[in-house]
Amino acid sequence: MLTKEQNELLTRVEGDAPMGKMLRQYWLPALRSEALVADGDPVRVRLFGQNFVAFRGTDGKAAIFDEGCPHRGASLLLARNEDCALTCIFHGWKFGNNGKTVDVPTEPKDRREAFAKKVPLKSYPVKEAGTMVWVWLGEGEVPEFPMLKFNTMPDTHVRAWVAYVQVNWLQGLEATVDTAHVGVLHKSHIGLLSEGDEFEDIAPRYDIDPQPYGLRAAALRRMKDGSEYVRVTEYVAPWYSFIPQPGTHAVCTISTPIDDYNVGQWYISFDSEQPLSEDKIQFFESMIGPDPNNFYNPKGTFENRWLQDRELMKQGHFSGVQGIPIEDFIVEESMGPIADRTKEFLGSTDIAIARMRRMFLKSLEDFKNGLPPFALNIKIDYSKIKTNTFYVPKNTDWRDKFKEIAMK
Ligand code: FES
Ligand SMILES: [Fe+2]
Repeated sequence: MLTKEQNELLTRVEGDAPMGKMLRQYWLPALRSEALVADGDPVRVRLFGQNFVAFRGTDGKAAIFDEGCPHRGASLLLARNEDCALTCIFHGWKFGNNGKTVDVPTEPKDRREAFAKKVPLKSYPVKEAGTMVWVWLGEGEVPEFPMLKFNTMPDTHVRAWVAYVQVNWLQGLEATVDTAHVGVLHKSHIGLLSEGDEFEDIAPRYDIDPQPYGLRAAALRRMKDGSEYVRVTEYVAPWYSFIPQPGTHAVCTISTPIDDYNVGQWYISFDSEQPLSEDKIQFFESMIGPDPNNFYNPKGTFENRWLQDRELMKQGHFSGVQGIPIEDFIVEESMGPIADRTKEFLGSTDIAIARMRRMFLKSLEDFKNGLPPFALNIKIDYSKIKTNTFYVPKNTDWRDKFKEIAMK
């Protein structure tokens, strides 16, 4: 449970809101690489309640600017995209994908060059990795780019999808950190976690180990024979959640703040050993809408009970909603755009969420006092972070087995 002030502090990200200012210090994905074509249409990106324009120049290099033209604010979504630059259609000012103003044809010839140098074009550091275009919107020194496992791989090994959900960013993130719901909400989609013979008890026991980058959470479920089934998830500050999958395949989610009432919910599927198989891609795509740049479509609302199929529920489907991510989205939206955390009643499986909130509150305090936000002041080998599911015999510590697997 949080106080009203704490809830406001953790959720608000627009303008000068402290959380938004702090979160802008981290790199985040802005859009899928495929959404940008060289010399193609500029694309609007919205983050922290601000609008940006993204485009890919003739040379293939992506760039992100403020959407409004620095001259008099015409939208650069309307701009021509050619010669590695956007040309504003209002007065023809031209902005290169290197972040420099190339030409200001409305100025007298003899002073054009000097004038161009002074144009306050807002261009942001951009990087492409993991089939995504990343941006840094912070102030001061640009931090090291997070070389998470999927950011170190060839494009064949990784695939990213994004959906826009009408809830605050923290609501999206908390759903990904809350692993206790997996065996309930998603039970009709996950055979192994159905209340079958294998588990003694559906309620897992949790071990939460703080890490320099976030939290490692092990959900332990006792089996009938006394052994334990272990699912290790990793929360990586500020918005990543690694969800374990069998073998070398893994999934990471990222919850990016679009504004106070919207989140960009990313799903990154990757295989550390081989190209991502068609099966894995199809499995995910069978659960979502057709547009990989916004797959939450068709999208239900409160008025039509989020398109929940009550007939299907009678036939045995638990949630009446097709697709794991969609199940998450409707539950999140049903909580209202910003969940009232003053009215919660947390249980033992909410420890990870409670820890994460405390971590954010501490980080906000540090940031207010001029210190770097959580995990930005230390060197972290992000590529080493991985998750797993495994079994351990009775009376053994899962951490030993986890270390063994992590070494491989
Ligand atoms: S508003 Fe863009 S060039 Fe004038
Ligand atoms: Fe979920």
